[in-house]
Amino acid sequence: MDLFTPAAFGDLQLANRVVMAPLTRLRSSESGVPGPLVVEYYAQRAGFGLIVSEGVWPVQEGKAYPGQPGIETDEQVEAWQLVTAAVHARGGQIVLQLMHGGRVSHTEITGTDRIVGPSAVAIDGEAHTPVGKKAFPVPHALSTDELSEVRDQLVLAARNAIRAGFDGVEVHSANGYLLHEFLSPVSNARDDQYGGSPENRARFVIEVTKAIREAIGAGRTGIRISPAHNIQGIAEVDEADVHATYGVLMDALEPLGLAYVSILRADLDSELVRDLHERFGGAYIVNSGFSEITTRDEAIHLVEATHADAVAIGRLAIANPDLVERWESEAEVNEPNPATFYGAGAEGYTDYPVLESSRA
Ligand SMILES: Cc1cc2nc3c(=O)[nH]c(=O)nc-3n(C[C@H](O)[C@H](O)[C@H](O)COP(=O)(O)O)c2cc1C
Repeated sequence: MDLFTPAAFGDLQLANRVVMAPLTRLRSSESGVPGPLVVEYYAQRAGFGLIVSEGVWPVQEGKAYPGQPGIETDEQVEAWQLVTAAVHARGGQIVLQLMHGGRVSHTEITGTDRIVGPSAVAIDGEAHTPVGKKAFPVPHALSTDELSEVRDQLVLAARNAIRAGFDGVEVHSANGYLLHEFLSPVSNARDDQYGGSPENRARFVIEVTKAIREAIGAGRTGIRISPAHNIQGIAEVDEADVHATYGVLMDALEPLGLAYVSILRADLDSELVRDLHERFGGAYIVNSGFSEITTRDEAIHLVEATHADAVAIGRLAIANPDLVERWESEAEVNEPNPATFYGAGAEGYTDYPVLESSRA
């Protein structure tokens, strides 16, 4: 598969198969409103086949980091409209990554009375709050009734994303946040129909995805998963259980006709990933995780070796607004600076240089 050819994923029309991965950058206001700098940042990256936004919170209770944007209030929706319009004006496509942080947060960050999770099991570690590092709190275990409320909050947020002009929504079910917490037996110790067996642990993710699809359309709905990505207190260590759980999930998603599944996993060329891909049957976006920066050669190799439809690129998208053009012409790339990944204004955000030929 040639990375530089167009693709259609559901309703999304990609000019190429280099997808900008979701990247939390923490440059929005305290009330979760993205400003002009955020508009500029995404507009600069319109040359990617698809932009997936940073993880965006659906409700205050689901906010995971200071400086993270939301899609709950009208003010946020209106601010995002400027982002999506700027990306569209430059010929790009952008979906919103809908991220409920679940237990990866603190009330000092959310400003709410509680943080929530599948079970009252805290992460062993500390959250970076505006008042310093604090032990992760024990989350309130959502009751069965409360789960429908959370599902409705996510659906409303997905509708807001469409109202804000996004081309679709990526359901964030990876990297240890709320939906991933349901999938993992360590964070999910429930004894109702949402806990225990692989079928039960996959149930909430399936219900949420179906409800969002119902609200905004299958062709505009994608989902990101990271099987056995053991971070933020997640421990999916039993390979057979991982296979069973994500297998149930893929089987349930298969008939829905979703735009895509995006998978983050170190061994993409594995039996597990091949099987999940086959069971889903639709467009697959791959990313091999945080350990090594995904390079041009790696991206080309990954797509070929895994028969994926596209590759998600994280750190090089931070450092290269015109990455697609650079890769296509085999030009040099800028190196990303991790010191400015999070919350440092324009520096390391909108000031990475583009090639002479990309200047408009
Ligand atoms: C600064 C930073 C922020 C990230 N934020 C998110 C996020 O909001 N949502 C998500 O699903 N993944 C997030 N990731 C993971 C990336 O999407 C991607 O999987 C990772 O960077 C590995 O790809 P790469 O080698 O191309 O950088 C983040 C990664 C980095 C480096």
